[in-house]
Amino acid sequence: MDQRYDFKKGKLEGFKHEDPMLFFKEWYQEAHEHDCADPHAVVLSTVSTDGQPSSRMVYMREMLEEGIIIYTNYLSKKGGNILKNPKVAALFYWDCVERQVRIEGVAEKVDKSISDDYFANRPRISQIGAWASEQSSEIDSRETLEERVKHFENKFPNEVPRPPHWGGYLIKPHYFEFWQGRLGRLHDRLCYTKDGNDWRKSRIAP
Ligand SMILES: Cc1cc2nc3c(=O)[nH]c(=O)nc-3n(C[C@H](O)[C@H](O)[C@H](O)COP(=O)(O)O)c2cc1C
Repeated sequence: MDQRYDFKKGKLEGFKHEDPMLFFKEWYQEAHEHDCADPHAVVLSTVSTDGQPSSRMVYMREMLEEGIIIYTNYLSKKGGNILKNPKVAALFYWDCVERQVRIEGVAEKVDKSISDDYFANRPRISQIGAWASEQSSEIDSRETLEERVKHFENKFPNEVPRPPHWGGYLIKPHYFEFWQGRLGRLHDRLCYTKDGNDWRKSRIAP
């Protein structure tokens, strides 16, 4: 556990963009170009009504001007949390470029047509899985799940419709932090906080 690692691959001298989404897109692209493993993998944190945070990995599937889109089961634990409290946090860590991006924002369901399009292009096995798995519900055995898979394979021999409880969330950020690891733990941290229609920029201590 006594591993010390020096961050030394980059620095953040200033705010490259007025719009943090452009900054984010640029960093995502660079993570991709540097072959970071799964650059679209993101830790999504939600909070229950009694204030208990809960985190899990998901995949970012789209970047828009207004935010990022993820897909999941609306009846899952995260879906239940978001229904009552749409405030979420998303965390990307790109080891190969020694960067993390923290996003805080609000999640809202995307239009059904957007979820339909995305679902229609998923592999069949994932489409069937979306029907078979009552995500986050207790099940008595693996066999039960596999029987449900068979059931839906028979039910939908051809095209698989999108389950109504499965779709996308658009996470609309109101806060971003761009973190670049530096030597001696003197990391660079540049933040954008939404202020009306503008973004207030600040540098914070590491
Ligand atoms: C790398 C990775 C990517 C994942 N992507 C997704 C995803 O895009 N959507 C999803 O619902 N679950 C995804 N999962 C599974 C979630 O981590 C989680 O187990 C599931 O969504 C149930 O979470 P919940 O019970 O908190 O709602 C992913 C897991 C990993 C490890």
